[in-house]
Amino acid sequence: MTSTSEQPTQQPTGVAPWWRDAVVYQVYVRSFADADGDGIGDLAGIVDRLDHLETLGVDAVWLTPCYPSPQLDHGYDVADYFGIEPMYGDLSTFDRLVEAARARSIRVLMDVVPNHCSSQHSWFQAALAAGPGSPERARFYFRDGRGPNGDEPPNNWRSVFGGPTWTRITEADGSPGQWYLHTFSPWQPDFDWSCPDVVAMFDAMLTFWFDRGVEGFRVDAVAVVGKAPGLPDAPPAPEGTAENDVWSHNPYSVFWPTAHEHWRGWRTLLEQYERTHPGRELVTVSEAYTPDRPDLLLQYVNPQEFHQSFCFDLMLAPWRVDTLRATIEPVYEALTASGAPLTWTINNHDTQRSVTRYGRADAAELSSWTKNNLVYTGAPVDLALGTVRARAAITLTASLPGSLYLFQGEELGLPEVLDLPDAVRQDPIFERTDGREPGRDGCRVPLPWTADQATSFGFSFGSASHLGRAVGSPWLPQPDDWGTYSVAAQQHDPASMLSLYHHLLSARRSRLDPDAGLGFVDVEHPDLLMLRRGDVTVVLNVGDAEIDLASLVPTLADAEVVISSAPGHDDAGRLPANTCCWLAPR
Ligand code: NOJ
Ligand code: MG
Repeated sequence: MTSTSEQPTQQPTGVAPWWRDAVVYQVYVRSFADADGDGIGDLAGIVDRLDHLETLGVDAVWLTPCYPSPQLDHGYDVADYFGIEPMYGDLSTFDRLVEAARARSIRVLMDVVPNHCSSQHSWFQAALAAGPGSPERARFYFRDGRGPNGDEPPNNWRSVFGGPTWTRITEADGSPGQWYLHTFSPWQPDFDWSCPDVVAMFDAMLTFWFDRGVEGFRVDAVAVVGKAPGLPDAPPAPEGTAENDVWSHNPYSVFWPTAHEHWRGWRTLLEQYERTHPGRELVTVSEAYTPDRPDLLLQYVNPQEFHQSFCFDLMLAPWRVDTLRATIEPVYEALTASGAPLTWTINNHDTQRSVTRYGRADAAELSSWTKNNLVYTGAPVDLALGTVRARAAITLTASLPGSLYLFQGEELGLPEVLDLPDAVRQDPIFERTDGREPGRDGCRVPLPWTADQATSFGFSFGSASHLGRAVGSPWLPQPDDWGTYSVAAQQHDPASMLSLYHHLLSARRSRLDPDAGLGFVDVEHPDLLMLRRGDVTVVLNVGDAEIDLASLVPTLADAEVVISSAPGHDDAGRLPANTCCWLAPR
């Protein structure tokens, strides 16, 4: 048994900012809690349910976009960056939320969408009206089409949500007009960041929300901001690339470097804000999928650009010792070597829920690793197995140095809802691929809080009388057994997923030294992953048979089980199947 990596020391906690090892809870606003009974989550609902987050022990919440929006990508189509979507509340409800969260020592982060806005944004509407060559059109990518009548798209790029990345408009005089570029859906036109208006608008936006008490932003889709000059045709994607993965192979739109100067501008703005507002400690976390490429991650997370950048690699890794280690170790080593903060996550609103992923029959196969969270295998799911593994996966993830991002409902062990009727699906991916891809609705089903089906399991608890109907039609239907996953059903059950999350967050604080590095330990067992954080040893059994740890690592036989993903497991000498636990010397 040898230790393979040294345990370098991170920045001492005395000077570490709050976010360095924070637990951030992602609230998908539409689906968290619905205080006015219209079936759609809202800000007042979040205020009412803050106790849950306080009890869980999170340091911050990240709100998915709650700006005015036609909701064609559920808020990632922003019509006004300076307001609140009326179905979610208004600015005064927002202020009340920030205040109520602060009273519980929970910071509020928002979500900023810089790559695109809604086609209903006043700038886009003005661009449509203003005509080719106008300054209004220069804020977006408007181009003439190819072909004799201009009726072919300006280039061959494919959009993330299916179909071409271009849509043709009708000019104000009724004639067939120019085309505009949209990396996502046609309702999400891309901004051209070489236009100074765009830069200035986002600077004003960040400041506007910081002034309202927001402590930072999750930054959407940074990898596609900025495009190659001339917008050249993309080379063909590798043979066999899935339909909705073609976009990610376009070198002229993904990781094109020009955006970095803008992120540097944001960092300067934030630091200036902190200087003029003592006591404020702001954070940005960028969203870029960089599987296997810590070097790319470092282009975003560095002292000149973003404070953090999501590492999604764990979310995409098969349930195997070799792949889990090969996922964690290089990222840890590369980021730590350059002093960059780490973040870890195993769930978000774009990805099938972990309970379902880990329950797939091919969860341990290399071929299941698509490296794209929008491309799923259809292998059959064993939910009981998936749940046991998801418990182990979060126990491992919570032990890693850096911050931890949770997605609402994972603490309840919610599965992906795979059988939503086509008629209720709302994700544009479903529509844009003509139903070939189910999309992401299955992880966005409204949360269950109680066993009461009449109130959508406690999701809608206000009065809907002003709407002329009873409470109880959530925007996506909840499965009949949703109540068994509810907070009420789990909160007093020591063996529940909710209790595990609660204990994990508290053990992170009390038993892990945030300054302790991470060191993997080689062990002679194909199903055993072992790592050290200071005096805590973390062991994970990815196999379906118990491991006799006492024989394999005799020094651990008498250790204390600090926390285990297997309820009732308190014998360090044996490690049950698909279980992760933290061990400490007695
Ligand atoms: C990434 C977001 O997480 C996703 O939900 C959204 O659809 C796209 N960016 C477009 O904004
Ligand atoms: Mg509502």
